[in-house]
Amino acid sequence: MDASAMLDRLAAPETRANPFPLYEQVRELGSVLPVADTLVLVTGYAAADRVLRDRGFGVLDREVGAAMFGDEPQPRSWELFGRSILRNNPPVHTRLRGPIASVFTPRRIAALEPAIERAVGRLLTAMAESGREGVPVDFMDRFAFPLPVGVICELLGVPDEDRYRFRRPAHELTRVLEFMSVDEDMSSADLAAQELSGYFADLVTERRARPQEDLIGALVRLRDEDPEQAIGDAELIANLVLLLVAGFETTTNLLGNGLALLGEHPDVRAALADRTLPVADFVEEVLRYDSPIQLTSRIALRDGLSVDGVPVPRFGEVLVLIGAANRDPARYREPQRFDPWRAGNGSLSFGSGIHFCVGAMLARLEAAVAFSRLLDRFPAPTLAPGAIRHDRLLFRGYGELPVTVS
Ligand code: HEM
Repeated sequence: MDASAMLDRLAAPETRANPFPLYEQVRELGSVLPVADTLVLVTGYAAADRVLRDRGFGVLDREVGAAMFGDEPQPRSWELFGRSILRNNPPVHTRLRGPIASVFTPRRIAALEPAIERAVGRLLTAMAESGREGVPVDFMDRFAFPLPVGVICELLGVPDEDRYRFRRPAHELTRVLEFMSVDEDMSSADLAAQELSGYFADLVTERRARPQEDLIGALVRLRDEDPEQAIGDAELIANLVLLLVAGFETTTNLLGNGLALLGEHPDVRAALADRTLPVADFVEEVLRYDSPIQLTSRIALRDGLSVDGVPVPRFGEVLVLIGAANRDPARYREPQRFDPWRAGNGSLSFGSGIHFCVGAMLARLEAAVAFSRLLDRFPAPTLAPGAIRHDRLLFRGYGELPVTVS
């Protein structure tokens, strides 16, 4: 397969539906595979981990983008992410990540557990009502979306009444991060960027007027106490939007992918229900086997870099296929098998290195509470016909997932 055929196949709808066969074809050609002068695909776990930790490789920030593409104006959605920690390299990344990580503490996350329990309980009761007498309910709509959006909004301090308006704009906005999205029409993502940044700009103004003990309040305070060093206003808003969209789109997909796997593996369901399998081990295996984030990308920031002997020129791109690395046979025994009993899981689903996911602990907590309470309430949730996957590669998850619960 030549380079352009390979890229066409990565971008193809059948790959978005099920990328795993293609990953294996790529791996057969090499776990670090040059597909063009300036593009390398990585499917190997160790190589992926090394690239993500290597400071010689960075994300496509505004400076790198200007050097690569000139200073043509970028879509608004791209600009917005360009001010967030996700799309900045040190020293900007270090400056922004510090304040965010400092309010995103284990204590603050652990303190959310009772609220998560309450939200899970409410959503399960509502599902039981709608699913009486075997009527299928859409798990995505009734549970996998509202739980994480409620939790991240609680953490950020977004008022209750606004929480359900974010599903469409957040989903639209994340299109800009998708593989091969550069040539696509980004107007809906740009509109979403405008809507979400406008929303958070108003909320920041409101928190300044009436300070509160939530994450927005804490970040506003950090910003105002040290306007020189800390996070700027535009950066503050971009990172709040990032926390919102990263905080639920991914977790929503983790919950959906996990429920689908539960439906396909009654032995796992039984072991979880009788507590012989720890729910945390199930969650780790869902993350490995069907990662909500399937890939990320890094750019060589200087000359002379290579990955496992494959040279990457300055501004060359390395596409790190997280979903493939998580199934590397050099790292996992029987990697294509869903096996929550496997030892030493440690997948790359939350990334690695300086961009390691700030929300990993929160996502794990939500999923653990969700699946244990779900099985307490419905010991045998059954998949009903009509499941629809999102037509996405990077954000892997379901748009609809009908289940019967009674
Ligand atoms: C199952 C759920 C989640 C998955 C699979 C996931 C995955 C990831 C991955 C792979 C990265 C690194 C991207 C890269 O290196 O290019 C990342 C970064 C990030 N995640 Fe998550 N995430 C999840 C949940 C969350 C939650 C709940 C939040 C917030 C509350 C969050 C906020 C972030 C942020 C802010 C970053 C950027 C960190 C940085 O650039 O320094 N994520 N996430």
